[in-house]
Amino acid sequence: MKLQQGIHGNWASRWTFIFAATGAAVGLANIWKFPYIAGENGGGAFVLVYLFCVGLIGIPIMIAEALIGRRGRMSPINSMLYVATESNVSSGWSVVGGLGLLAGLCILSFYSVIAGWALHYWYLAFNDEFYQITAKASGFLFEELLSRPAELIAWHSAFILLAVAIVAAGVVKGLGRAVMVIMPLFFVLLAVLLFYSVSNGAFAASWQFLLSFDSSSLEWSSILVALGHAFFTLSIGMGAIMAYGAYIPHKPLVDSNVVSKAASDVGENHHQPRGHPKKLSIARMVLTIAALDTIVAIAVSLIIFSVVFSSPELQASGGPGLLFVSLPVALGGMEGGYIMALLFFGVIVLVALSSAIAILEPTVAWLVEKRPYSRGKIALCVGFFAWFVGLGTVFSFNEWKQSTMLEMTFFDSLNFLTSNIVLPLAGLCIAIFVGWRMRPLHIIDEVGPIDQGPYKYWLRTLRVVSPVLLLIVFVMGLLDKFL
Ligand code: TRP
Repeated sequence: MKLQQGIHGNWASRWTFIFAATGAAVGLANIWKFPYIAGENGGGAFVLVYLFCVGLIGIPIMIAEALIGRRGRMSPINSMLYVATESNVSSGWSVVGGLGLLAGLCILSFYSVIAGWALHYWYLAFNDEFYQITAKASGFLFEELLSRPAELIAWHSAFILLAVAIVAAGVVKGLGRAVMVIMPLFFVLLAVLLFYSVSNGAFAASWQFLLSFDSSSLEWSSILVALGHAFFTLSIGMGAIMAYGAYIPHKPLVDSNVVSKAASDVGENHHQPRGHPKKLSIARMVLTIAALDTIVAIAVSLIIFSVVFSSPELQASGGPGLLFVSLPVALGGMEGGYIMALLFFGVIVLVALSSAIAILEPTVAWLVEKRPYSRGKIALCVGFFAWFVGLGTVFSFNEWKQSTMLEMTFFDSLNFLTSNIVLPLAGLCIAIFVGWRMRPLHIIDEVGPIDQGPYKYWLRTLRVVSPVLLLIVFVMGLLDKFL
């Protein structure tokens, strides 16, 4: 059987894929969003439901997505098309890929605005604005930023431009190397902050809040938020993992001449995959990524809530500003806080960048495959689209704050619609596609010999457990929210 070859190049090694995909998964969702939604939805019980969603729905679907990508070796739309054609099912399935790309651009539009806040905070850290800051002053600083649309737009634009520049340079060359530095640095800083909060903050209260189970705070709508977040944080449902999966080395079956030629045609430096006797296990890689992603979310939340519970002015249900209000208080009060703040906000920006790139990449890859324009021009146009939609999010915090629909601002609606509706729906389609429509022979071919044992469990979960649970949460969550 002839194996599909991609034109975008391959990751240098399995670890580059793991770091790049971890870089995509770990981002603002873990650092900014998870703590605030856990705070708004009552803590421990929410965390537990979220873990169930990751394990029973997120991971099986993530494996399915990576598998389609590795089979098709192209952008999500074309990979779905390839796999559908190969399995003799309707080419209409590629619409799911398209839906994911659209959701991705909408997510990028607000993601970039929030990352712009982090960029601004990095600048504040540089000017030593957090020194001995009180919770009240920190809250004020944040509100002040939100009230100035021009400033928000400037930081939002700067962030999008950075992301576009990296994607334009080519993911394999730029990102592949960058993530190998960013991720380890991030983990070291996280450990230092965690150590600090254990010794200085209200760590016990934070632990209690996040890890004790109180089901009374749990409603269907919170469960839907947990499900949406599982998709958002694992970066699934929108083709990113599919696109990255397409660059996983196909050892040992790759005909290196074909790939190198195709890669040099599009100006990519093709890295020949290192020798590996068997196919790399997608399941193991996905499990590593999901575990790292979850550990980061919980660690960051422990840090943030130990600051929140040690200052009477701060509240767990602080909403989107939680990170930006509480972290400066911790950083400003600690020994060596200046350097830590500089490093930490710097790393938040970098981690957000490694995610933003992964959001842009699938659409850019698709257009590169489709049109005769250069990668650079395409990246710029796609970036512009996301930037433009992002203006709506900028104004949601000031000029349009009062214009709400169903009590949601533009930002809230976009956030809700993408994470809680489109991503789960796209995920459902992917589960059905791989579970029921893709030819088992092709699945087994991609799964590889190492995973053959757990393979049956995974397939059963993907076919029945994940879609059924997903549908229940989805329908009940929507009824609870809107009725
Ligand atoms: N998971 C990313 C984060 O934690 C956000 C995200 C959602 C994402 N979907 C994505 C990143 C797709 C890359 C690709 O910040």
